[in-house]
Amino acid sequence: MVEKQNKNLTRTTLLPTYTRHKLENGSTYLMPKGFPIDGFESGLRYVARENDVFVATYPKCGTTWMQSIVYLILRNGEPITSDIKLSSIFPHLEEVGKEFVANVAAMTNDSNYRLIKTHLPFDLTPFSEKSKYIYVTRNPKDCCVSFFHHTRGFPKHYDFASGKFEEYFELFLDGNVDFGDYFKNLSSWLPHKSRNNILFMSYEDLKSNPRNGILQVAKFLGETHYTKMFANDERILKAVLLHSSVSSMQKDPQRWSSARSPDQTPFVRKGTVGDWKNYFTKDQSDRMNKKIRESFAEDELNGLWTNELVLSYE
Ligand code: A3P
Repeated sequence: MVEKQNKNLTRTTLLPTYTRHKLENGSTYLMPKGFPIDGFESGLRYVARENDVFVATYPKCGTTWMQSIVYLILRNGEPITSDIKLSSIFPHLEEVGKEFVANVAAMTNDSNYRLIKTHLPFDLTPFSEKSKYIYVTRNPKDCCVSFFHHTRGFPKHYDFASGKFEEYFELFLDGNVDFGDYFKNLSSWLPHKSRNNILFMSYEDLKSNPRNGILQVAKFLGETHYTKMFANDERILKAVLLHSSVSSMQKDPQRWSSARSPDQTPFVRKGTVGDWKNYFTKDQSDRMNKKIRESFAEDELNGLWTNELVLSYE
């Protein structure tokens, strides 16, 4: 762990460790320790093509959940078996690089799609009009809490197993965490939300009506995927709903994550909306509200989550 004096904390704090990648424009992009620079640089050079389906998110906004939904739709509701890692079928672009991603297509050619996960902001994401992009966002307060647990849960990447929320909160608010600044990431994707090849969704919507969310994804993937959801008494739709539920995804977590110590929270932790109220002080909540107001225009977040959920401390 790194010891630093943070201006918003009155004592010496213990901070997570990150790998610092330099971007061409001179800025620094933080990644978890152990994520190779080669994979990152190669991933940025990937050329997107037809039949690529990207799940693009800021971390902890429902990436794995959406990846599972896409996978289940394409596989007619058949879940990933316990011996297969999602990352081998649906790799993380800036972790493994472009060659790995290109080769995975051969493994999934029965579905004709190349499935790609990324946490990159829009301007760094390989873009093609012919590819499809599903961007999932989540309110920043729940995202921050979830990212805090994630960061504690992987000591080999962050060395932060006994880190405190008040310390993590400051880093998150300032954008000094891996994969960059939450607010900049969402701001980079928002102007593109109405493009035909981008499906913009919120974790909160998906949570409040998963059936509707799954149908939107199926439609976006193609009319045949949408139509098949209703066949045979909605057999495939029901299977997708079942196998993408929190309780199903809490089983066999090795499908999504490397092992975590039993004294840490599991990778699929709670899967709820509003958990931030168990962590944020009133002051932290006010400071994040200020950041939300500074980062987004009033109507930009319409329909993503309610102000009542995010801004109100009560
Ligand atoms: P919490 O830590 O709040 O529980 P990501 O995949 O982007 O890392 O996001 C992880 C968050 O999504 C975690 O949130 C996790 O529990 C939640 N999640 C994973 N699978 C889910 C599911 N099937 N339904 C709802 N939330 C899910």
